[in-house]
Amino acid sequence: MKVLIVGSGGREHAIAWSAAKSDKVDKIYCAPGNAGIAEYAECVPIGAMEFDKLVAFAKENEVDLTIIGMDDPLVGGVVDAFEKEGLRVFGPRKNAAILEGSKAFSKDLMKKYNIPTAAYENFDDAEAALAYLETAKFPIVLKADGLALGKGVLICNTLEEAKEGVRSIMLDKQFGSAGNRMVIEEFMTGREVSVLSFVDGKTIKTMTSAQDHKRAKDGDQGLNTGGMGTFSPSPFYTEEVDEFCKKYVYQATVDAMKAEGREFKGIIFFGLMLTPDGPRVLEYNARFGDPEAQVVLPRMKTDIIEVMEACIDGTLDEVDLEFENNAAVCVVLASDGYPVKYEKGFPIEGLDEFKKHDGYYCFHAGTKFDGDTIVTNGGRVLGVTAKGKDLKEARANAYAATEWVTFANKYKRNDIGKAIDEA
Ligand code: AMP
Ligand code: GLY
Repeated sequence: MKVLIVGSGGREHAIAWSAAKSDKVDKIYCAPGNAGIAEYAECVPIGAMEFDKLVAFAKENEVDLTIIGMDDPLVGGVVDAFEKEGLRVFGPRKNAAILEGSKAFSKDLMKKYNIPTAAYENFDDAEAALAYLETAKFPIVLKADGLALGKGVLICNTLEEAKEGVRSIMLDKQFGSAGNRMVIEEFMTGREVSVLSFVDGKTIKTMTSAQDHKRAKDGDQGLNTGGMGTFSPSPFYTEEVDEFCKKYVYQATVDAMKAEGREFKGIIFFGLMLTPDGPRVLEYNARFGDPEAQVVLPRMKTDIIEVMEACIDGTLDEVDLEFENNAAVCVVLASDGYPVKYEKGFPIEGLDEFKKHDGYYCFHAGTKFDGDTIVTNGGRVLGVTAKGKDLKEARANAYAATEWVTFANKYKRNDIGKAIDEA
């Protein structure tokens, strides 16, 4: 079959790599893709938000299955656009992608269906939000309602800081229209875990757990980024935590969406915090995590196309979702200065080394071809991933492999997976 993947980051590279392993797949296209994805897929210059062009391309090229990697097109209704033309597509419709697209929606859903999350209030006017802060406890968490590239969350330690935050989100529109509404919620403490899952509308199958490192600098300092590295599994995601979430979170979320007339098919990504009072949902995403996909998919034994088709057909209960009993670590190589200001266009050397070693992967996040040379083309450039028999071995392997590649202004965190030592 012919598959079209929509997106251009490390996550989409991991999806393309995974799809290329499937016996069912003869041809992969990626829109718009990148220089790494081009190894498995024919990259076509169509943007992820150009729904008409994507649909036309899928029709013309008789694409059998389109996989949407990114949040913006999902929240914007790309799945509806494909379905309207009778095309098969993996991902939630617009009315279900709202689970990620509106934090106010997801908080109200959790409250209504007793899914454990931080206490909160939603606001659609700044005056009311400012008044609410006067009686609040600090630190407190402010969240722009809509998509904001993972940056719409502010943790404020004082009343003054929080007032400033409300003004910048709701009045100055720091995150654009994402800040037309906002959530103000209780500050929680604990370790974070990402659990991704496949959902077919009624059945949910969770994947192996992972942990991201969102801050730009070592020791979780610096600004929030898209993610500077991941490891999988999380040693903190114990059987007890899994039992709790199976009972109160996972199926409950799928059932709640169904009950609301918003049947969810695709990936639900549960951002969990393991608080002293038990696991709580921090956020939902409606797609694979990036760079979570880069450590989860290399460990997945089941054919990704088989699972995705089962999600579309509502037969996920018949699929045995299996993962290897090992570990993986991904260290992101970024352009120095990310996430603020950085230069691009530098040649990348050493990529061939990954072809010589089993269990090592270099997923491209921001690269492109300049003639025959692969050059840097983004803040996050590469996701260097390695497997190992356990987390420590995987981490040592991944860090060794980060030395194989060189480019000007190469930057990485040196403490990805440090938490492993505390497990
Ligand atoms: P979100 O986009 O909702 O996952 O938030 C981004 C990051 O902000 C999370 O990964 C947490 O590190 C942090 N965060 C979000 N909500 C809370 C909260 N209620 N308490 C503490 N930290 C939070
Ligand atoms: N790595 C976090 C995310 O994909 O949202």
